[in-house]
Amino acid sequence: MQQLQLPHQTNFYKGKVRDVYTIADKYMVMVVSDRISAFDVVLPRPIPYKGQVLNQIAAQFLEATKDIVPNWLIKVPLPNAAIGYKCETYPVEMVVRGNLTGHAWRTYKSGKRELCGVALPEGMRENDPFEQPIITPTTKAHEGHDEDISREEIIKKGIVPEKEYEQLEQLTLAVFERGRKMANERGLILVDTKYEFGKIGDTIYLIDEIHTPDSSRYFYLDGFEERQKAGEPQKQLSKEFVREWLMENGFQGKDGQQVPEMTDEVVSRISERYIELYEHVTGKKFVKEDVSEAEMIAKLNAELDHLPPIPDQIGTL
Ligand SMILES: Nc1ncnc2c1ncn2[C@@H]1O[C@H](COP(=O)(O)OP(=O)(O)O)[C@@H](O)[C@H]1O
Ligand SMILES: [Mg+2]
Repeated sequence: MQQLQLPHQTNFYKGKVRDVYTIADKYMVMVVSDRISAFDVVLPRPIPYKGQVLNQIAAQFLEATKDIVPNWLIKVPLPNAAIGYKCETYPVEMVVRGNLTGHAWRTYKSGKRELCGVALPEGMRENDPFEQPIITPTTKAHEGHDEDISREEIIKKGIVPEKEYEQLEQLTLAVFERGRKMANERGLILVDTKYEFGKIGDTIYLIDEIHTPDSSRYFYLDGFEERQKAGEPQKQLSKEFVREWLMENGFQGKDGQQVPEMTDEVVSRISERYIELYEHVTGKKFVKEDVSEAEMIAKLNAELDHLPPIPDQIGTL
């Protein structure tokens, strides 16, 4: 997808996965590409329909959590694009984990019993649930890897004021609980995810995508306990299998390492996994939609002509 020229466009940011257009400094158009990133590196080949999957899952979960926290989304005019409010972002990602999986497990396995200032109990096995979900925040790096940070450090360094950080924690746990419940109803476990927040005036908004396979891990609920008891791997419905495939082929995002060749077979397998995940998570059949660039421009132009006003700047804090 080429960079578009949109009415009242004031900025353009090419993220790893999304093309972010700022409109009149106050709105954002987020075009979700088919690019795929892992270990903070964009892989060489796009994954067909991945943008549509991500955009539509995020939109559905933002809608389903807006009673907990207001969010940036105004409208989804296209399968792979969304329009919303631009917020002043907090420079942290609120990672929340219900199970000892992925990075948390790799840390634990190395012998550490602490992650981002959170003590981890002895005797846990990979994928075991925590008694309560834990928050393991990271800093949002402009380039390169996001880094683990503790709540103490975030507050001490003034990265987020203490009062506001406490609110981010509460909102994170509440939205995660909702996501876990919704996943359960669909026979899935929402294992972990990350949220980003921002502000308009004094009001905290949930921004970015939520509960997508790029920002979250899902397991199949059916047979979870049995597999844990037997010490078997869990059945994943997430990007973890892409990370595993990369690791098996000698790539962990470290300097000097080469991304393995992505054959057509690998690309279509990944695409199918994304579509499978969409259908599981939403309970809806996925409809492949191919949108031309001309169509995108026409739709976005029409939408940008009548945007709702910016919410009241007077906060509710
Ligand atoms: N409502 C919003 N207001 C401001 N920034 C946002 C909003 N929603 C998402 N963003 C930012 O837009 C970018 C989305 O693009 P992404 O592909 O995730 O890029 P990145 O490589 O920076 O993670 C992120 O940097 C995210 O923080
Ligand atoms: Mg991102």
